[in-house]
Amino acid sequence: MKISVEVNGQVYERDVAPRLLLVHFLRETLGLTGTHIGCETTICGACTVHLDGRAVKSCTLFAVQADGRRVTTVEGLAKDAEHLHPVQIGFWEEHGLQCGYCTPGMIMTTSAFLKENPNPSDAEIRHAIEGNICRCTGYQQIVNAVQHAARLERGGR
Ligand code: FES
Ligand code: FES
Repeated sequence: MKISVEVNGQVYERDVAPRLLLVHFLRETLGLTGTHIGCETTICGACTVHLDGRAVKSCTLFAVQADGRRVTTVEGLAKDAEHLHPVQIGFWEEHGLQCGYCTPGMIMTTSAFLKENPNPSDAEIRHAIEGNICRCTGYQQIVNAVQHAARLERGGR
């Protein structure tokens, strides 16, 4: 099937199999390997991207379901390497990662979450990342990273 998807501001027209998952479209068809694959069964959240601005697990959608829509992956979050997204800065400065496997998904989930809740409590952050599994950090540094990002987005330090 022919689809046309805007990914990180660029429109891609491709002929894809109806059963191709969005995560495989991103990684294998477009070569955007920043989106990770963990479980492929909607459990781990490693594959989270934004679809029309909302966080979705890209192993849960077929590529054809993104036809005519706008996808942002972790590669498209920052303007460039000199201007990281506040959530990326938060993870960097608060050591919100160890192995990094969950990190793209965590960043995409929490960047969408902060748009809806710019001043969250720790409990609200923990609720927001319930669908994202991290086997390394114990989550507290991720919560700290998101709080730091929220402060940056509100104009603080
Ligand atoms: S790979 Fe999509 S939720 Fe785990
Ligand atoms: S940093 Fe290793 S899984 Fe989260």
